[in-house]
Amino acid sequence: MDYTNRQNTIVFIGSDHAGFWAKQKTCDYIRSLEYQIEDLGTDSEKPVDYPDYAIKVAQRVRETPGACGIVFCGTGIGVSITANKVPGIRAALCTSPYHVEMARRHNDANVLALGARISTFEEIKKMIDVWFSTPFDGGRHQRRVEKIHLLTGC
Ligand code: RB5
Repeated sequence: MDYTNRQNTIVFIGSDHAGFWAKQKTCDYIRSLEYQIEDLGTDSEKPVDYPDYAIKVAQRVRETPGACGIVFCGTGIGVSITANKVPGIRAALCTSPYHVEMARRHNDANVLALGARISTFEEIKKMIDVWFSTPFDGGRHQRRVEKIHLLTGC
């Protein structure tokens, strides 16, 4: 997958209450980059359950060719665990631009999971820049990624 083409890439985004502030700022940032974005909630800092939002994002990514997802919770752990339960999803919990680069180049990650209590917005912006500018390397990594999905049959 390659998310460098703004016209062809839809970004689904979601968070729980802990990730709400980061989701809002990230939506604004991604819009400024002229990507198409669909915000699947939550809509406030009122406590909610992170799986509800991670599942929504993961399902939309799964059914939309060329799409990717970004999910936030406090640590990024809950949303990444949840998103990875959806067949076809490769969610990567990242805390550095290097994590993101490798998640795209080697794992062809299609969902980026971030911790709003872990990363600052400046760090998040750098990770998002790498996410959108780094294509999958393919080659031997394609075979490895396919082996992941043999587990769930897709
Ligand atoms: C909410 O307090 C917190 O548990 C949640 O945002 C997340 O960090 C879970 O993994």
